[in-house]
Amino acid sequence: MSNYLETTHEVYKEAALSPDIGLCCTTNPIWELPGLKIPKIMQEMNYGCGSTVHARDLTNNPKMLYVGVGGGMELLQFSYFNRQKGGVIGVDVVDEMLEASRKNFKEAELQNEWFKSDFVILKKGDALNLPVENNSIDVAAQNCLFNIFKSEELKKAIAEMYRVLKPHGRLVMSDPTCEQTMNDDLRNDERLRALCLSGSLPIDAYVKALTDEGFGTIEIRARKPYRVLDPKNYATKELIYIESIEVAAIKDPMPDDGPCIFTGKAAIYFGGNDYFDDHAGHILLKNQPLAICDKTAASLSSLKRDDIFISESTFHYDGGGCC
Ligand SMILES: C[S@@+](CC[C@H](N)C(=O)[O-])C[C@H]1O[C@@H](n2cnc3c(N)ncnc32)[C@H](O)[C@@H]1O
Repeated sequence: MSNYLETTHEVYKEAALSPDIGLCCTTNPIWELPGLKIPKIMQEMNYGCGSTVHARDLTNNPKMLYVGVGGGMELLQFSYFNRQKGGVIGVDVVDEMLEASRKNFKEAELQNEWFKSDFVILKKGDALNLPVENNSIDVAAQNCLFNIFKSEELKKAIAEMYRVLKPHGRLVMSDPTCEQTMNDDLRNDERLRALCLSGSLPIDAYVKALTDEGFGTIEIRARKPYRVLDPKNYATKELIYIESIEVAAIKDPMPDDGPCIFTGKAAIYFGGNDYFDDHAGHILLKNQPLAICDKTAASLSSLKRDDIFISESTFHYDGGGCC
């Protein structure tokens, strides 16, 4: 095993044995729903950098997988929507983290009358070799784990998620990203990498890693400020700005003309008719924004019409529209 993976296991062993608020990631607002109480210990062990729990993914009792369980908060949130024995499988490679989350689920059981610990099946396993059957999962999630991996391991981890998802299943993720080039000292600092600070990729490279595996639809759902690495405290001459994104990769077949990547663009037709039809599957009702993927944005732009406005990416795509 590579050294940096061993260091990562060690970092999360420590984080399981003594919860460290903000150890890896910034504190996100903790959301609770009616009847859903998140135990304090789970909040303290929130080592994610965004949310992977989106209600619109969670209809029809999906079979769920969560890789890199941390304190278990998001597995509890997923269970809220599922409420079935074994409805959520949690996989982690660190024994101490599995043990800590097991304990936290017991606490959650005391604070949530609807929740039973056996809604979650905890399995020891590696993101690079998941102990899960092919084509068996509707919604898979990971939060703040994949950014730690170097390219070879990242490829393997994405391939494993793709393997276990059913056709049209979705991989929901949150990870830091960075558009600046990080120097090798930062990149190869095993502890910084394990702490989700120096492994992040630019958004385009992150998305490419997903589409290279075959995910036909990508949704970028949120993009937020995350951290800075400043020259006084880190081995860098320039200040590095890191963001976090929330992304869903859907196991749709790959379209012949390439993946549909939704980055929050919309088209608005404001011409003299009631609607504009591009005869390629897109009907723009007058003065109504239609969410479009980047491919469609490019093809509508290429028409060079003076009655269609294409917005910039908002990096906040929340469904609808067409590809
Ligand atoms: C940054 S923490 C995120 C925890 C959780 N997802 C959250 O949002 O709070 C990374 C998690 O991945 C686990 N982990 C590290 N390497 C792993 C691997 N190769 N396979 C599976 N889990 C791993 C750690 O033990 C830890 O629980």
